[in-house]
Amino acid sequence: MKEIRFDDKVAVITGAGGGLGRAYALLLASRGAKVIVNDLGGTFDGSGSDATPAQQVVNEIKAAGGKAVANYDSVAEWESAQNIIKTAIDSFGKIDVLINNAGILRDKSLLKMEIDDYRKIMSVHLDGTFFCTKAAFAYMKEQTYGRIVSTASAAGLYGNFGQVNYGAAKMGIAGMMNSVAQEGARYNIKANTIVPTAGTRLTFTVMPEDVIGKVKPGYVAPIVAWLCSEQCHETAKMYSAGGGYFSRAAVVEGPGVVFDASKDITVEMIVEHLDQINSIEEGQEFASAMEQAGAVISKMNMS
Ligand code: NAI
Repeated sequence: MKEIRFDDKVAVITGAGGGLGRAYALLLASRGAKVIVNDLGGTFDGSGSDATPAQQVVNEIKAAGGKAVANYDSVAEWESAQNIIKTAIDSFGKIDVLINNAGILRDKSLLKMEIDDYRKIMSVHLDGTFFCTKAAFAYMKEQTYGRIVSTASAAGLYGNFGQVNYGAAKMGIAGMMNSVAQEGARYNIKANTIVPTAGTRLTFTVMPEDVIGKVKPGYVAPIVAWLCSEQCHETAKMYSAGGGYFSRAAVVEGPGVVFDASKDITVEMIVEHLDQINSIEEGQEFASAMEQAGAVISKMNMS
């Protein structure tokens, strides 16, 4: 198989000063990409800033013979997110790849969660992904080429105690990419979502020590690199990855039940058919909301 490379490609990776983002940056740069290493350099809960992490990764890339430029802006504001993307344009003339990876945690159970903990998580994860994607999309559309990988979490897909804020933002990101993928389809812009598991500063407090060593960020990087490559034709997909495990995750809808809508549909009918309604055996994926609506309409029994 031909080696997957990124020669002549420019990649912006947010939150690339450590953890997963650093692993993505090193891999892409080692295969020829010119990389913008963005990182605000704050603490894991989003306070403060420090240029050191991004600069260190740039130094590592350069020491290995690669090309990289640091950017220290926050993804969480529209102006600064635009500046992240502009750094790619100013430094290398274009942007081909965007990895929305920057993230923080503010874990608290729902009743203890301050409004600021909720808003801060939304602004870094959901707003940050939106701002960077919107800014990058304009250039990608113009050049009819782009690869966008955004970062969700099992906490969003499946839920996690103490992560109401984070879970909402992360599932929101997966939903955002579904629509970005549709808008990008005409312009050869692919948008996918990674659901990673890795031992990083975000997970050091929750992962057992022996597991952390086994789930190095580098294990997630190969599939992210492939999703960023010209060879990748997948779009609107979610992939789980960590510790050597790779799998696609998906939203499916079961075949359900169809009642005669010309007659009364009672609450009791719902209860009586709950097994059928709950079943996702022979569940189906839909490529778009329109496809799902069409499938529902075709099943309707309006006679
Ligand atoms: P990390 O803390 O090592 O990396 C996140 C980076 O984002 C940090 O270097 C931080 O300085 C940077 N950052 C934070 N706020 C920023 C902002 N406003 N602007 C720019 N940069 C900012 O953590 P990790 O684990 O590498 O996280 C990467 C992504 O993966 C995050 O989105 C996280 O939520 C997600 N994730 C990680 C999992 C894991 O198992 N490590 C599991 C599921 C999702």
